Amino acid sequence: MTEIRMRVNGVVEKLDVEPWVSLLDALRDHLGLTGPKKGCDQGACGACTVIAGGVRINACLALAVQYAGKEITTIEGIAQGEDLHPMQAAFIRHDGFQCGYCTSGQICSAVAMLAEHAAGMPSAVTGTPAGHDAGLSDEEIRERMSGNLCRCGAYNGIVDAIKDVAG
Ligand code: FES
Repeated sequence: MTEIRMRVNGVVEKLDVEPWVSLLDALRDHLGLTGPKKGCDQGACGACTVIAGGVRINACLALAVQYAGKEITTIEGIAQGEDLHPMQAAFIRHDGFQCGYCTSGQICSAVAMLAEHAAGMPSAVTGTPAGHDAGLSDEEIRERMSGNLCRCGAYNGIVDAIKDVAG
């Protein structure tokens, strides 16, 4: 066992984990945070997406010990006090889900994606840094969110929700 500490949703947590335990299993099984879902457990579906140090990651592909001392945000930490995060509210407004299994990952991914876009991280679609005022086309949102699959096919609502928040 290895003792690690990480700040999860603003709270410093101490965990005793074997070195091979994934961040996803540590969050779900050690901390009881079941918002991040285990879909494929191999980096293909995005259901496990969390935000680590401001960057979205597939928690199933990360080892918990790699994130010792890091800041992790899961869907449980996205809301702002009693208020939903604007992205959560937009997903509800635009029916950005059906069964909801992928939703926590979709929302974490969308929140981090907008921050990436605002920071000028290039898109594979546009090929150039987007810049804060460049706006996001449907095509670019779909490309930037392509790591998050929805088996129900709620993609139109997801894109509409993200566009709503992006303004
Ligand atoms: Fe991690 Fe599917 S469960 S990408």
